[in-house]
Amino acid sequence: MRKKVIAANWKMYKTPDQAREFFREFLPLVKDHDRDEIVVCPTYLCIDAAVNSVNGSCVAVGAQDLHWEKEGAFTGEINAAMLAAVGTTHVIIGHSERRQHFGETDDTVNLKLKSALEAGLAPIVCVGEVLEEREAGLTDDVLRRQCLRAFYAISAKKASKMVVAYEPVWAIGTGKTATPQMAADAHTIIRGEAAKAFGQEFSDGVRILYGGSVKPQNAKALMSEAEIDGALVGGASLDPKSFAAIVRY
Ligand code: 13P
Repeated sequence: MRKKVIAANWKMYKTPDQAREFFREFLPLVKDHDRDEIVVCPTYLCIDAAVNSVNGSCVAVGAQDLHWEKEGAFTGEINAAMLAAVGTTHVIIGHSERRQHFGETDDTVNLKLKSALEAGLAPIVCVGEVLEEREAGLTDDVLRRQCLRAFYAISAKKASKMVVAYEPVWAIGTGKTATPQMAADAHTIIRGEAAKAFGQEFSDGVRILYGGSVKPQNAKALMSEAEIDGALVGGASLDPKSFAAIVRY
């Protein structure tokens, strides 16, 4: 049985004070919850507040991106070692908003994945098709390409902490959700690519999350699908009660 991961992606929301306020309300609601792993990914600026707030609880803190170089003249960037040094344990890589608005490519996803693994972080690698690709019947091809290139030249041993998130872009922030069956089909493709890159044993164990308009109302149906190993939640993770309801689906 793969332990599910319920992760929050706060995107560009909340100040450090608002982050502390969130955890004051959220932590008592998920006290002693050990059925699933819980991860919250705030902005870089809120990581310190988040790490201090979750101290001693069952909640882990992740970042939303990183740069792959060890250091250098890269204005505005943050690397894996810096994230690990401040208590971050997870990092989202290749989110569709980074691919869409900030020039993220399959190749930079691969570089970021390698550097996160090298630093001992658990990467949450995002893949997913846009609406035009789904309508053109290209979903499987897109997922295969994204996985093939993300996983390139990484060993199963190195990749052990990796988690993948299937986030169909048309379902993000739109209120449209993939049906559990659609998600399960995509997850099967992704798991197949993981088997090709890392072997069957790795592929049987890797957690594949679903993201895209996950809400308290649809969490149970999605999480009941055997192929879905958790959720990456945007909008509904900003409110402590709503995110706790998803965690306790
Ligand atoms: P929403 O839950 O707001 O659709 O966002 C999903 C997402 O992008 C999580 O990374």
